[in-house]
Amino acid sequence: MAFTPDQEVTLARMRDMLRTRMKDKPRRYEHSLGVTETSIMLAQTYGVNVFDAAVAGLLHDWDKVLDDHDLLARAAQFGIEVAGSPVAAVGLLHGPVAACELPHIFPELSQEVLQAIARHTVGACDMTPLDMVVFVADAIEPHRFGSYADDLRSMVGEAPLEELFFKTFSQGLVYVISGGRYLYPTAVDIYNAYAQTRCH
Ligand SMILES: [Fe+2]
Ligand SMILES: [Fe+2]
Repeated sequence: MAFTPDQEVTLARMRDMLRTRMKDKPRRYEHSLGVTETSIMLAQTYGVNVFDAAVAGLLHDWDKVLDDHDLLARAAQFGIEVAGSPVAAVGLLHGPVAACELPHIFPELSQEVLQAIARHTVGACDMTPLDMVVFVADAIEPHRFGSYADDLRSMVGEAPLEELFFKTFSQGLVYVISGGRYLYPTAVDIYNAYAQTRCH
């Protein structure tokens, strides 16, 4: 592995704390490890900082263990702005809430890593390569099954990272709409921001 001994120690400490936090949710913990490994692989493929990708992948679902009430309360406490209805978008809050909380637990986390964690649920019109790596890894880690994940996996290393992100994001929208679920309003802006650049 491409990590220094110090980085290995940091990752092991974060992994231990995450395992404890997710002790009642072993599948969520396994998913977090899967996202870590896939983030590392994507970072290596696309020339992104591999340690940042590993840390962001490992911690991205830190607050997924919270219930809706807790997430809404903490989002209000941190002043997190949510487009549309916060109650309808509660499933997206664990990203931005974790980005506000994690610096208190791991002060060494960089702004870049925190942003990637915040954006893994909501996305943004100006995703950085690290943001895209974590977003995509969340969708294609080894515990994700189905042709949807397989199609995206087949693009790794073949398509540019931005194209891979766009495809992942659009497939997420299709899933939300085909299930008749609430569509976070900003999702349309994000979709159009990337769809537009592909036309040129
Ligand atoms: Fe998540
Ligand atoms: Fe996740």
